[in-house]
Amino acid sequence: MAIRSVLQIGDPRLRQPSQAVPRSLIGSQKLTELIGDLRDTMAATDGAGLAAPQIGVPLRLVIFGISRNPRYPEAGPIPETILINPELMPLGDELECGWEGCLSVPGLRAEVPRPRRLQYRALTPTGAWIERKVEGFHARVVQHECDHLDGVLFPDRLAPATAAILIAAAGSAAPEPGARPNAASS
Ligand code: NI
Repeated sequence: MAIRSVLQIGDPRLRQPSQAVPRSLIGSQKLTELIGDLRDTMAATDGAGLAAPQIGVPLRLVIFGISRNPRYPEAGPIPETILINPELMPLGDELECGWEGCLSVPGLRAEVPRPRRLQYRALTPTGAWIERKVEGFHARVVQHECDHLDGVLFPDRLAPATAAILIAAAGSAAPEPGARPNAASS
C-alpha cells in the first residue's frame, strides 16, 4: 500500500462525477489495494476522511473515521468505515453549521451548513450492506466525503460571496491554519 498525493482544488479531476464501483471489483485485489492506499494516505495526512477521486481514482468509494485525535478535541470517535457506492438520505429538515476543511482545499476552513441527521446505505469491501442513521459530526463527515463523488467541494456549499472572500484570504494565509474544534479535514 502507498501514500498517494492528494489532488488540489483547480485540478479538473476533482470536479468530475465518479462512477459506481462495478460488482466485479468488490473483493478484488485491485480494490483492496485502492482501499489500502486511501487508508495510508488518510493516516499520513491526519484526515478524518478521504474519497477516491481525491487521489485521482474516479470511483464511488470513500473512507472515514477518527479515533481520539487532538485535532478534533470535541468530536467523538467514528469507527473506520469504508463505503462503496453510498446513498445518502437526509432525515428531517434541520440544518447545522460546522467547521470543515479539506485536504484538497489547503489553507481554508469554513462553517458549512448541512443536514444534521441522515441515513446512509452502501456496500462494504466484503460485499455486505451497511446502513446507519447518524447525526452531528459523523453525518457531516459522510456528507463531505460523498460530495467529492459528485465533484463538489465544501466551498460550493457556502454563499458565493462568503466563498470568494475566504478563498481570497486563504491565498495569503499560512498553510497550516491550526486546529479548530470539530473541524473535519477530509
Ligand atoms: Ni474533502
